[in-house]
Amino acid sequence: MLKADWVLAAAIAGFTVACGGGVGATDAGMQTGRDVAATGGLLFERNCQSCHGEHGEGTDKGPAVLGKKRIGKRFKNAQLLFEFIEKEMPKDNPGSLDVAQCWNLVTFMVAASGKKVEDRLSESNAEDTRLDK
Ligand code: HEC
Repeated sequence: MLKADWVLAAAIAGFTVACGGGVGATDAGMQTGRDVAATGGLLFERNCQSCHGEHGEGTDKGPAVLGKKRIGKRFKNAQLLFEFIEKEMPKDNPGSLDVAQCWNLVTFMVAASGKKVEDRLSESNAEDTRLDK
């Protein structure tokens, strides 16, 4: 069993809830969202959890990054979170992830933090995805 399985489950649950809202949610959209959450979860496990913890709860090497209250403390919306990650993370090897991987990570992190995510996050919807509310 993968260590980050619980986070994946949380992220996927986030998408189910979001899709359950009904408005504009298609089966195809839901599938994409789930796939992205899974991909982003694996990226988190491989590149981030060594410092930010298995559950994103933080370690002595990096602060907590997942959680409904936590994620919006510093970043008002998903675009700002993306820009920070793309430029600064992983701390020991910044710039090692490409743009698509960073969006997958952001999509995963937002969903796994219990925020509503309608679809894969990208430049087109990230600014409207508030993290501070
Ligand atoms: C080598 C350790 C290390 C790795 C690996 C790492 N980080 Fe970090 N991260 C840090 C440290 C230390 C900070 C705090 C300093 C700062 O904000 O620049 C931080 C800060 C952050 C923050 C801001 C948290 C806040 O609220 O202030 C986010 C978001 C973040 N990291 C995401 C990631 C992601 C996503 C990855 C994987 C791609 C990652 N980090 C990999 C060490 C790490």
